[in-house]
Amino acid sequence: MARVALVSGGVSGIGAATTKLLQASGCTVIANYYGNDTQATAFHNETGIPIRTWNVADFEATQSGVAAVAREFGPIDILVNNAGITRDCTLHKMSYEQWRSVVDVDLGGCFNMCRAVIEDMRARRFGRIVNISSVNGLSGQFGQTNYAAAKAGVIGFTKALALEGAARGITVNAIAPGYTDTGMVSAVPPKILEGILATVPIGRLATPQEIARGVLFLVDDNAGFITGATLSINGGKYMV
Ligand code: CAA
Repeated sequence: MARVALVSGGVSGIGAATTKLLQASGCTVIANYYGNDTQATAFHNETGIPIRTWNVADFEATQSGVAAVAREFGPIDILVNNAGITRDCTLHKMSYEQWRSVVDVDLGGCFNMCRAVIEDMRARRFGRIVNISSVNGLSGQFGQTNYAAAKAGVIGFTKALALEGAARGITVNAIAPGYTDTGMVSAVPPKILEGILATVPIGRLATPQEIARGVLFLVDDNAGFITGATLSINGGKYMV
């Protein structure tokens, strides 16, 4: 039977590449999004992939959003926590709102989504969860105390939940993408991005598809022995 997959932030960038690959692999895939209605509608028209909107930073909205998806399409087998934002700013200038919003979406969203699917996964003794972290959660990055903290938090969260899920057939892994050709990276000022690219041994941005291939690998039925791992896909920028 086709696996049911839910991808947060699934209509653009790495999320869109992931939903498309999951669809091509035979999954029933649903893309969550928030705020970018025009882009979401265009994505749906192009791919036929169902789209559902809620803010992953909102606990109650996420619980009811996921429950509605599960009622309509069946219990979630595969969850990809991809939704994320940046509010880059050095700490001495950072507002509380810039800190809070990034932690609430990038780390809080991961909790809210996992909390919404985990009881069903435990009951059904199967689950594949992939959390999208970042190279900058591993290495740190100038101007990203908020983002680096949230993305490092995602890795700790992943390891703890991997321990809890192990005996129940639920694997939980993280991917730490490097700089990828998405809207998020194109918001970095060109001069700064040029400097960053000079530190990437492969010498270019990743394509979203190159990250999505990692997700596909980790959510496979045959990937049941891979759990608690962080897969770096960063062009050699940071090796751990
Ligand atoms: N290391 C050390 N010093 C640096 C530096 C660095 N990497 N970058 C800038 N500086 C210095 C500047 O030379 C300048 O020095 P002076 O004051 O002596 O002139 C000073 O720091 C500037 O500090 P400001 O606080 O004034 O910084 P700013 O307001 O000009 O810019 C910033 C801060 C907007 C965060 C800018 O540095 C920036 O955009 N950085 C890029 C952050 C980044 O990589 N974001 C990634 C987004 S994509 C993503 O996150 C996806 C993913 O997962 C990879």
